[in-house]
Amino acid sequence: MTNFTLNNQKIALSLNEQYPLIDVLRNHCSIDSPKWGCGLEQCGACHVLIDGKSKPTCQSPLASVERQSIQTLESASLDDSKHLTHQKQLRALQQAFLIEQAAQCGYCTSGMLMTSAELLFKNKTPTEEQIKIALDGHLCRCGAQQRIVRAVMLAAHNLSKEQA
Ligand code: FES
Ligand code: FES
Repeated sequence: MTNFTLNNQKIALSLNEQYPLIDVLRNHCSIDSPKWGCGLEQCGACHVLIDGKSKPTCQSPLASVERQSIQTLESASLDDSKHLTHQKQLRALQQAFLIEQAAQCGYCTSGMLMTSAELLFKNKTPTEEQIKIALDGHLCRCGAQQRIVRAVMLAAHNLSKEQA
């Protein structure tokens, strides 16, 4: 039995502990935001937040999240909770991505949002360069990178206005 928390819900699963986390989330937990891209931890499409850090799920086995806390993009639309630590950042980012039209096919978007949320949680006023460095491991085949960076800048700006 593997125990973990998913978007503030306790989960206990009796599955092969070597089963890739992305398959566990998508096939057994009704989570479809992380996408299968390269399968080699090289594209960023499958990222989720694990104990607050944006990490790939395509190669990590289920056993690796024992007693850990997973937060996915689905958490942005749940009721407010202090346990959903990056909820505010995810919501601000979603809005900013819409305003900047930063998603085309959307395949990379969830992963981009996860890593951007981690960045804005740690650094409320990132520079353009810091955003580019944070998102360096995320590929966008549609070529939306410039709009994505602009969207993260806008989300940071809007969050800082909220807190002012
Ligand atoms: S599918 Fe996991 S990093 Fe590409
Ligand atoms: S929006 Fe299509 S891969 Fe990024």
